[in-house]
Amino acid sequence: MPITTHKLIQWKQEGRTIVALTAWDYAIAQLLDSAGVDLILVGDSMAVVLGYENTLPVTLEEIIHHAKAVRRGVSRALMVVDLPFLTYQESIQQAMHSAGRVLKETGAQAVKLEGGYPQMLEIIARLVQAGIPVMGHVGLTPQSVHQLGLRQQGKTDTDAQRILQEAIALEQAGVFSLVLEHIPADLALQITQKLSIPTIGIGAGKDCDGQILVTSDVLGLSARQPPFAKVYTNLRQTITKAVEDYGMEVREGKFPES
Ligand code: KIV
Repeated sequence: MPITTHKLIQWKQEGRTIVALTAWDYAIAQLLDSAGVDLILVGDSMAVVLGYENTLPVTLEEIIHHAKAVRRGVSRALMVVDLPFLTYQESIQQAMHSAGRVLKETGAQAVKLEGGYPQMLEIIARLVQAGIPVMGHVGLTPQSVHQLGLRQQGKTDTDAQRILQEAIALEQAGVFSLVLEHIPADLALQITQKLSIPTIGIGAGKDCDGQILVTSDVLGLSARQPPFAKVYTNLRQTITKAVEDYGMEVREGKFPES
């Protein structure tokens, strides 16, 4: 049975932890889905595979193209797609158009938007009213990299209070779940206890209702990882070794054998 947004809220009530990862292509999506990942995010972190410096250049066309491939690999997990930078911040109409295209063209069940400031709350409330499930994202929001950098957020009392208030307002606006990125663990715990929707942490401590990481970090494919990521295997090394072995065998006439 495919996982729904309602199921995730039910799991929070039952105390069942949500496992989430990112996917940008069919092959990885299929592996994650069959390994039991509950939520697969087609994140704009796919800037990594497109060779971009940060998430800002990612376009709606690019994310839709990748999300269609991911959809073909996912049968159980809930699939969420990021709306790229400046495809939803301008107006309710722009957000409705972008989110509508993502749901119609990719078959994803939900979109994710960054920020919890008043205009974003209005945009999210309208999307939800139109039947579009929305996941929120506060704390470090990579689309604001030129304002925030990639630093941990919520370290001062004022900033922590602002993030807490944004989280509460996002739940009221109708998000079904909230990503908390790179904030202190005690703030993430406070938010998690306050909300009845699940929080999904990334660099936000162990007390969130679920955890997400960028899959290329987990697999050791990224050239560099954020400080909170855990690298479970080093595919850069494995791939380099396999390609070098292949090159050597071809040059030495050992492959093919006949
Ligand atoms: O784009 C992404 O991969 C994300 C995760 C870091 C949550 O937004």
